[in-house]
Amino acid sequence: MSIGAAVAILGIVFAFDSAWYSHWYALFRVVHVTVAVFWVGGGLLLTVLGLKAERSDDPDEIVTLARWAAWVGERLFAPAGGIVLLAGIAMMIDTDWGWGKFWVVVGLLGYAATMVTGMAILSPQAKRVAELSESKGTTAPETIAAIRKILLIARFDIAVLLVVVADMVTKPFS
Ligand code: HEM
Repeated sequence: MSIGAAVAILGIVFAFDSAWYSHWYALFRVVHVTVAVFWVGGGLLLTVLGLKAERSDDPDEIVTLARWAAWVGERLFAPAGGIVLLAGIAMMIDTDWGWGKFWVVVGLLGYAATMVTGMAILSPQAKRVAELSESKGTTAPETIAAIRKILLIARFDIAVLLVVVADMVTKPFS
C-alpha cells in the first residue's frame, strides 16, 4: 500500500515538473500509459499462460486459467480500459492534436473493438464455459473446446491492443 502511494506521489511530482508536457497533460499521460501497461501487459501474460496451458497434458491447468482470465477481464481489464479511454480523452481535450488524426482514430476504433469483443463475445462465452463446467464437468471435451475458443478470441483481442500501442507510440500517417 505504502509502496503504491510512494509511486503515485513520484508520478505526480514528475508530471508537474515535466519540461516536455504541460502539467495536466503530463499527469493524464502518466495515468494513460501506466494503466495501459497494466491492461496490455496483463492480457499478454494471460495469452502466454494460455499457450502454455494448451500444450500441457493437465486439463485442470487450462480450466483454472480460463477462470482467472474471466475474472481478470471483467473486474480488472474492463475498468482499466475505461480509465485508459478517459485519460486519452482528457489529453485530447487538453491539447490540439485534433480528433481526425489517423493514430487517434485507430485508438478509438481499437478501444471500441475490444469493448464490443469483451461484452458481446468473451463475457457470454465465459458464462457458457461456467455452465458447461457445471453440467458436463470441467474437463469434459465440450468445456475444453469452449475454453480454447475463448483463448483464441482473446488472442485476437490482445493483438488489437498491441497494434494500438504501436500506433500510439509511432503516430503513423499523421
Ligand atoms: C486501446 C487502448 C489504448 C492503448 C493501449 C493506448 C496506449 C498508449 C501508449 C502506450 C501511449 C504512449 C505513447 C508514447 O509515449 O509514445 C499513448 C499515448 C497517448 N494516447 Fe493512447 N492508448 C489507447 C487508447 C487511446 C485513445 C482511445 C485515445 C484518445 C481518445 C488515446 C490518446 C492518447 C494520447 C493523446 C497520447 C499521448 C500522445 C503524446 O503525447 O505523444 N489513446 N497511448
